[in-house]
Amino acid sequence: MDQRDIRRLVTSEITGLHTNEEKYNPYSWYKEMRAKSPVYFDQKQGVWNVFLYEDVNRVISDKDVFSSKRFQQSRPFHSIINTDPPEHTRLRSLVSHAFTPKMIAGWEPRIRAIATELLDKVSGQTHMDLVEDFSYPLPVMVIAELLGIPTSDRKQFKEWSDIVVSGPSSTADIQETIDRRDKAIKELMEYFSQIIEEKRKNLKEDMISTLIKAEENEGKLSSEELFGFCITLLIAGNETTTNLISNAVYCFLENQTIWEELKRDPGLIPHAVEETLRYRSPVQAIPRRAKTDAEIGGFHIKPGQIVLAWIGSANRDEQKFTDPDEFQLRRNPNPHLSFGKGIHFCLGAPLARLEAKIALEEFLKRYSSIALKEGYQLDPVNSNLLYGLKSLHIAVS
Ligand code: HEM
Repeated sequence: MDQRDIRRLVTSEITGLHTNEEKYNPYSWYKEMRAKSPVYFDQKQGVWNVFLYEDVNRVISDKDVFSSKRFQQSRPFHSIINTDPPEHTRLRSLVSHAFTPKMIAGWEPRIRAIATELLDKVSGQTHMDLVEDFSYPLPVMVIAELLGIPTSDRKQFKEWSDIVVSGPSSTADIQETIDRRDKAIKELMEYFSQIIEEKRKNLKEDMISTLIKAEENEGKLSSEELFGFCITLLIAGNETTTNLISNAVYCFLENQTIWEELKRDPGLIPHAVEETLRYRSPVQAIPRRAKTDAEIGGFHIKPGQIVLAWIGSANRDEQKFTDPDEFQLRRNPNPHLSFGKGIHFCLGAPLARLEAKIALEEFLKRYSSIALKEGYQLDPVNSNLLYGLKSLHIAVS
């Protein structure tokens, strides 16, 4: 499978989810697949799809059988997400130094200041686009600060990041999408190489400086890997967190009793974040490539075949969760798979949780009531792997 084929995984061809309502509510399709065809080989794509919690859990965590090297590395950079041990072990241990819990906790006041600043900008307005005004800029500003990149460049970041993560809208657009994507990656690399050169001369306490120190220390992290990591953070950390915040607010709009409960007891906000992760997961599916012969649910997977693990479906599996289609604020335990599982478990999970908690705290403090703006048309992200909203117009008071 080359890049062109992997792009097809994100088109609606594989799911048959075409309208905006269908794209934002794939859950009845998942339910049908779990009941009728929980392990399904898509002939046209040549891709296996798994939908049950236990199978998804195994595919994403059994590194000896299912490889994360799903793309042929034709990209000009290495991403940790796309590696297996021992390469993964080495990269992960290096980058974890730049991502310690102490560092994350230290960002709390800055994240809160950014959230407050963004809400101040729309204060007095009766309407807002939650995505444009709040849930998009917040993680971008945070990641930019964390990396030590000027926040004034964030508009450009958004453009690059959007291009790199977005899927084609139809099969006909595949080549065009790949070309635009390659161009954006090239520009991002040029951008980072300037930043890195400047930082080499003047090392600071930010994450890029920490990574440069790791690079210079016995040459453990190559320049290519350094680029790859910066780009991975920019992309992995932005859209997913934006979508988590917007999806949470959408859940409150759908079910106002949650909003009221959270207003009464903001201490429940971390639970709302976890339940949003399960109920409307920002990442819906993770691809792996079989390394060896494997068996799932009585089906034989051949070495080299791609398996798409639908975590969005696993999170709604009735065999694992009681009343999975209900948003339960106090759900406990809540073993969702939204940050993955095993060695590739999301490095940014503590940061994403903190950002979402602060964003919702500040948002709830600011407004007594929220409603969908009249005439708002559901506007989902155009991807089956990433899940969220491109805009969310709301009336606030
Ligand atoms: C890995 C989801 C936020 C950085 C992952 C994986 C998932 C995920 C599912 C596993 C991929 C796999 O197994 O192939 C999410 C979600 C987020 C989020 C839902 C927000 C709600 C962030 C943030 C950062 C980040 C804020 C960094 C600033 C990473 C990195 C990896 C990763 C570096 C690769 C880890 C590895 O391969 O060892 N994320 N992520 N993520 N995430 Fe996140």
